[in-house]
Amino acid sequence: MKYAPNTLLVALFWLRAAEALDNGIGLKPHMGWSSWNVAQCDAASARYALDTADRFISLGLKDLGYEYINIDDCWTTRSRDGSGKLVPDPSKWPDGIKAVADKIHDMGLKFGLYGCAGQQTCAGFPGSDGNKHAESDVSQLVEWGVDFWKYDNCYTPCLDNPPPQTCQRPAGNTQEWYAPMRDAILGAQDTRKIHFNLCNWGRDNVWEWGYDYGHSWRMSVDNWGDWESVERIGSAAAGISEYSGPGGFNDLDMLYLGSPKLNANQGRLHFGLWAIAKSPLVLGLDLATISDETLAVIRNKGIIAINQDELGKAATTFTPPGKPGPESGKIHPYWAGPLSDGVVIGLCAGISAGTYAVDFKDVPGLGEGSYAWEEMYTGDKGTGTGVSFDIDLHDMRVIKVTTATQAKREPAAL
Ligand code: GLA
Repeated sequence: MKYAPNTLLVALFWLRAAEALDNGIGLKPHMGWSSWNVAQCDAASARYALDTADRFISLGLKDLGYEYINIDDCWTTRSRDGSGKLVPDPSKWPDGIKAVADKIHDMGLKFGLYGCAGQQTCAGFPGSDGNKHAESDVSQLVEWGVDFWKYDNCYTPCLDNPPPQTCQRPAGNTQEWYAPMRDAILGAQDTRKIHFNLCNWGRDNVWEWGYDYGHSWRMSVDNWGDWESVERIGSAAAGISEYSGPGGFNDLDMLYLGSPKLNANQGRLHFGLWAIAKSPLVLGLDLATISDETLAVIRNKGIIAINQDELGKAATTFTPPGKPGPESGKIHPYWAGPLSDGVVIGLCAGISAGTYAVDFKDVPGLGEGSYAWEEMYTGDKGTGTGVSFDIDLHDMRVIKVTTATQAKREPAAL
């Protein structure tokens, strides 16, 4: 709804944008790497950050748009210093944070860190503690040249006292403890534009207000790197697609490609579905040991271009005539979404292997007539009134249908 081509809605959008965390960044889903899925606390180090930055260049990932090197939980010492400042763990950051951020910037990349609204981060390191430290923490980020701040929801106000790591009976709404950090980031934007990633695990329907608070928001609990996570998160994304748009995107969580719990088919569906849902594409794997098979998936130019399309609208499910509708918690076979120069169709064999066919006239955004299309994993191309693919269990096909080369239709009667 936010971006419907209707004057009133466009005017409403601009009013809305004016009150948002609108510092001119996050207009496309961000692409990069995060340390958490790689080796949790052990990967929150300068060595991992710099090694990954080198590999962004040598593996050609930077040229494809992967940009952020984000360090997740565990990068600080266990307590703040006497002035309440966060202290980078000297065993992980022997030259401090700024030296690493500077090197990463010199390579044309961006650098991100992680914090938490509660008393402690999820792994027990200092949090911003009810935002007592929001302004001071942001001033440290600015001083170091940090470009991205993920903000977690552990040890936040809770009816249970002391607050547990994951509160089941929150004493308030996430917005209350995310607002001061949003304001501190906005307050600093003349010196540094920081991407603010809300990590409240989809609580309090974050997609309904996330746009006013950050540039991306986690809409679910963690991706655990198994097929059940892909099903749980991917199926939930369909119902909230309308909330993603330039400046604010549903974050389906870090990609877990290369996980031993996902086979090659599941990896392709994971990447393809996250991409068409306009999720940030944040690699959660060790680039030192990445397989050629996984590299081929994450380097798929056609799928990346669909994710980064300037329209920024997320695909959602549709059901062709005579086919069963979506099943809760399962990956529906048929997805579609608008692109600035066409339509993307996702065909997912998430429930069973089989032949998946669609007539373009049944696809939202398309109609009667002949269209040019291209499938991004197989490279198949064609022209016609529909497509059909035999798809193995848990695999996916991502088809770009180009309206520009659509065959002529009968002109409408005057
Ligand atoms: C939470 C977040 C994860 C990760 C860990 C770190 O679980 O959802 O993405 O940041 O904390 O402890």
